Amino acid sequence: MRALGHKLRLACSVLGAFWMAAATAYAGDATSAYPLDTLSPTSELTREMTRIFWNVTVWDSIILVVVAIVMVLAVFVYSSRPGQPGVPSTKHHDTYLELAWTVIPALILVAITVPTVRAIVRTQPSSWPADTLQVRVIAHQWWWEFQYPTLGVETGDEFHIPINRQIHFEMVSDDVIHSFFMPAVGGKRDVVPGQENQITLVAEVPGQYYGQCTEFCGDSHANMRFRVFVDTQADFDQWVKHQLETPAKPPETGPVAAGAKIFANAPCAICHTIKGISGFSKEYTYGFKGPDLTHFGSRGTLAGSILDNTPENVALWIQNPDKMKPGANMPALGLSGDQLNDLVAYLESLK
Ligand code: CUA
Repeated sequence: MRALGHKLRLACSVLGAFWMAAATAYAGDATSAYPLDTLSPTSELTREMTRIFWNVTVWDSIILVVVAIVMVLAVFVYSSRPGQPGVPSTKHHDTYLELAWTVIPALILVAITVPTVRAIVRTQPSSWPADTLQVRVIAHQWWWEFQYPTLGVETGDEFHIPINRQIHFEMVSDDVIHSFFMPAVGGKRDVVPGQENQITLVAEVPGQYYGQCTEFCGDSHANMRFRVFVDTQADFDQWVKHQLETPAKPPETGPVAAGAKIFANAPCAICHTIKGISGFSKEYTYGFKGPDLTHFGSRGTLAGSILDNTPENVALWIQNPDKMKPGANMPALGLSGDQLNDLVAYLESLK
């Protein structure tokens, strides 16, 4: 009876390991209802990654099933029988067996490595066509800055790319190690201080996609999100044209005018650029302390893309950034009442 209990326990732990592996695989099976779904590729790069993922998962599952069956069989077939005399037989050395469990895993690793390296070589070329669009990604604690050196555009939290055109991202960090992750469009790459990492891709499906920092980078690591808009060429050109426009001069009177004065006289202008109003003017280097707000009102989100861009949220953010995003570098300015509302009105007017 004891022997049977022992066998059942062994069998249960094998099945438990199998169940855990299955549960882990299932947890990754997100549909598009999940904003950071890694299994709905929209570019050749992410399609290749998904293809390799499924191949590895299917083959590994088959291997797991075979190993589990062999283990369960071994438990029942080779255990000692009641009444059997002496110690069960043991073996200290078997050259063929040792060769087998060295060579087979090595072959499995080769089978994973070859398609992976081939996909990297195919999707990440070392030179680019002349019309490649260069996007510089600068990671900050805790928001993302995006610059288009050839277009003269810079923005934060949200950025746009055109479909069917090679995009070359160069990524640098302003402080600590972050990780740029936009699963549907471009996979993931670490963003490391003092080093320039890259991703090359061609986006194929217009839409709005989510991104997120995926390397722990301090208090608000989880609040370091972004959005990428994949546009048709016409929509992208329209966006670029709009980004290059200087916002209209604020009116002489009213809340927007009052807000513009507050912006210019409060510490806001030290860290934030509004073209034509305030400028850090460190163009195309990474020295900004806060996002460029030139077209703030036309963005859908703010504060590392964690809040919808509504007047209420902008007011809450200005009142106490640290509450919305713990550890945020932006100080609370102590504004309230009309002053706060005027500043919000001005920021939202920056379309
Ligand atoms: Cu940046 Cu985590």
